[in-house]
Amino acid sequence: MTSKMTPDLARTLPAAEQHEWFRSRMTSRRSLLRGGLVGAGAVAGATLLPGTASASTPSAALLAPASRPPGTVVAPFGRHVAFGADPTHQMSVSWVVPDLVKRPFVRIGTSPWDLGERVYADLRNLTTPRSIIRFEDDQSPNDSGDIQQYFVHANLDRLRPGRTYYYFVGHDGWDVKGNVTSVRSFTTAESGREPFTFTAFGDQGISYDAVATTGLIRAQNPAFHLHAGDISYAESGGGGNITDSYDPRVWDSFFTQVEPVASGIPWQVAMGNHEIETWYSPDGYGGQFDRFAFPQSTSYYSFTYGNVAVLSLDVNDVSNEIPANRGYSGGKQTAWLEKQLAAFRKRGDIDFIVAFFHHCAYCTCDSHSSEGGARTNWAPLFDKYSVDLVINGHNHIYERTDPIKAGAATGKAPIGATVHAAEQGTTYITAGGAGASLYEFSAADSYAGHVKDNDAVPGFVNDPGGVQTKETVSWSRVRYTGYCLLVIDSAPAKHQHGTSTLTVRGLSGAGQELDRIVLAR
Ligand SMILES: [Fe+2]
Ligand SMILES: [Fe+2]
Repeated sequence: MTSKMTPDLARTLPAAEQHEWFRSRMTSRRSLLRGGLVGAGAVAGATLLPGTASASTPSAALLAPASRPPGTVVAPFGRHVAFGADPTHQMSVSWVVPDLVKRPFVRIGTSPWDLGERVYADLRNLTTPRSIIRFEDDQSPNDSGDIQQYFVHANLDRLRPGRTYYYFVGHDGWDVKGNVTSVRSFTTAESGREPFTFTAFGDQGISYDAVATTGLIRAQNPAFHLHAGDISYAESGGGGNITDSYDPRVWDSFFTQVEPVASGIPWQVAMGNHEIETWYSPDGYGGQFDRFAFPQSTSYYSFTYGNVAVLSLDVNDVSNEIPANRGYSGGKQTAWLEKQLAAFRKRGDIDFIVAFFHHCAYCTCDSHSSEGGARTNWAPLFDKYSVDLVINGHNHIYERTDPIKAGAATGKAPIGATVHAAEQGTTYITAGGAGASLYEFSAADSYAGHVKDNDAVPGFVNDPGGVQTKETVSWSRVRYTGYCLLVIDSAPAKHQHGTSTLTVRGLSGAGQELDRIVLAR
């Protein structure tokens, strides 16, 4: 492969090929450097560790220097929790340490005053060459040093359903004594069909607006939060290109920003286009797998909570608009999706199916509008298994559709309507206003207290080959140009033949109700 990389070339290459170029470039440069720095210790010995979950053992050179601070001065930060495959019994506790520590652990108990013995955790070391922070035009990565990051994960199981647990994270030299204010708590899923609330948004980044929407999550006291991708914007280009600028330290700020919420409310993420960090692995997800605990070892997964099944999909796999990872699963994800949907619909205890992913299947926002790849690959499956609700981000606004089947609205669902997905089709909501700078619509906004019905809203579909096909749609029922949070209350039927509902509310960044519909089964 060519030794010169430009943004124009990067845009034409799949993420895997860009990664291969990067690795070969770094390997040859580091061999040269090692030859000239024999005896220089840590710098020459530091290896470029692949950013995958298996890269959990730091190199010997990193462990050696006596100059490393003792554990007593290295404070854990950025605590965040996520469900395991079974939210009634499993939870992952994750955090960040600013330097290498020995024997990181979590203590857990049902009272903050009675935490248990140490449960040792897995420490993952992510190494990033400093030179890629500003990868300019045809400049290659060089050896101006590495940024080391340390992410720690403890996967807890055998927990009891519907129970609140208190936990403390530490390491040799840092324990609960003297640090009792760092104790946090989480609650496992109830095992029965109990009412609960969950929240969702996408496109957060780090900003005062993101701080506000994050606080709004906490005010809803949700059982879990869905993040539809474009999480920190450490990768600021968003094209999955090796020439995009990228600073891994943005993740440190991100985890600090969300810690007050994410340390107690399971934070379930989906892959956005800004999560393709081509430096770390062929699919660009190596960094993500180091930072977050995924319930399954893939970029897509599912879990159930009470009477709701949730699917997190990786839309980069089918994206026409940003093709860096298009087709990377080789069709495995879509086959898995169909199998999951069929299995969920057979289960008597599951009423609602909710899917969330980054690019929008149905949206009219000026910036990215709709992703044709989601429509052609997945919408027919959402129809076949009558998925109740699809949540997207990518467009930094709020928009809700009327129920859609076979690509068209089956009727109008004004604010306050009740929708039966089984007969009427799927409701699609874009809630990409979590904090990143806002986009715009061509048509006027229309939301609670400000309704301006418009059955001919212009948008476009991203088709293969970078083609944008214009369309005029009737299904754009609610539009709001502003920050937002989606809040969903599940009320399972009390009797076998009763009606279960999901009440879906769109809130503005200030907590004002913009939209409300009831999904019923
Ligand atoms: Fe975004
Ligand atoms: Fe995006």
